[in-house]
Amino acid sequence: MNGNLHVISFLEKRRSIAVRQMSPGKVDDVHLEQILNAGIRVPDHGALKPWRLVVITGESKKRIDEDVIFSEFQSENPSATDDVQVREKTRLQRAEVVIAVISSPKESKKIPEWEMQLSAGAVCTTLLYAAQSLNYAAQWLTEWYAYNDKVLSELGGIPGRDKIAGFIYIGEKISDPFERPRPKPETVISFL
Ligand SMILES: Cc1cc2nc3c(=O)[nH]c(=O)nc-3n(C[C@H](O)[C@H](O)[C@H](O)COP(=O)(O)O)c2cc1C
Repeated sequence: MNGNLHVISFLEKRRSIAVRQMSPGKVDDVHLEQILNAGIRVPDHGALKPWRLVVITGESKKRIDEDVIFSEFQSENPSATDDVQVREKTRLQRAEVVIAVISSPKESKKIPEWEMQLSAGAVCTTLLYAAQSLNYAAQWLTEWYAYNDKVLSELGGIPGRDKIAGFIYIGEKISDPFERPRPKPETVISFL
């Protein structure tokens, strides 16, 4: 099979695996480097690099989970049940590697900010597909904490300017996913 046929058949079948169906497992260092390098090789109008990636692994996951995500959760929800507290204390620890993609628009008279944000989305998609192509379980999540300023600051973002485009969770598959409903092409595609 030539290379392009291989890529198209991957794209026709790939699926995300929800974090609840992944175990952290092990992400090979060489694979992680490949995933990251693929992820920053995206269309970027004006080559402004209007995004940054923060790779969260090892003990940093637990620290951010407990000291930032859970602490922010608890200040808003002081009487959450034990189950909910455990969930909020272990968000990032559901995967082996979590890559935060920060949309960080640059000053430009020519390129609209919207296009810079789209490029950050392209980084997320490419990281996701790269991880899936290497047979990892991967999912793009935002959840509530992507919209929290303390979390954004912890990751080096500047509230008011930067936004978290997503967290790409990467781990090991513990089961194969079922296909989910996909749009019928004619409902979203038209030809002129
Ligand atoms: C920007 C963005 C944010 C998302 N955030 C969440 C989320 O917070 N929680 C969730 O369950 N799914 C979220 N999803 C959807 C998951 O990524 C879901 O697994 C995905 O739609 C599955 O698509 P696939 O099977 O085509 O890969 C988000 C998707 C996108 C594009």
